[in-house]
Amino acid sequence: MTAPAIVLIGPMGAGKSSIGKKLARVLGATFTDSDGLVVRDHGPIERLFAEGGEERFREIERLAVAEALGRGGVVALGGGAVLHPDTRSDLAAHRVVLLTVSEQTIASRLAGTTRPLLQGDDPVGRWREVAESRRELYDQLADARFDTSTGRIQDIVDAIAAWAQEETS
Ligand code: S3P
Repeated sequence: MTAPAIVLIGPMGAGKSSIGKKLARVLGATFTDSDGLVVRDHGPIERLFAEGGEERFREIERLAVAEALGRGGVVALGGGAVLHPDTRSDLAAHRVVLLTVSEQTIASRLAGTTRPLLQGDDPVGRWREVAESRRELYDQLADARFDTSTGRIQDIVDAIAAWAQEETS
């Protein structure tokens, strides 16, 4: 059996991709981003939402998540990937890290965002609604939690790496 992946979950803008990339480097592991696989196979996420809606995106995303988890190493999931029940059951076999971020911090991270779910007059308000609606799911799935609102990104990466190494020792 392949080793469990370290899977980063959490709301949009929590830093899953940027932290995941650095974490993989520290651990000497591969890094896979589920959104990256979606784009590789189907083109821009904005276009997918525009053409097929969120439902179609979730079907495509599910296949990308299965591929990403199968690769092992460090995996970053799109914020809504946990909405799929098959993904939630798959995560039981992996080590799941929830990244959180405060509303104060998210505002600057979302400036100019092209994420389809955050379009409109009030991206931060939309972000809050979406994050709130998933909070319970994230909490149930998480084996560990790290907040990315403040501090150096490398310190957060090192803290996650220390947790992961403790888990396997
Ligand atoms: C989404 C999050 C995005 C991307 C898509 C939908 C969501 O990924 O998958 O825009 O539903 O939370 P990030 O969490 O990497 O922004």
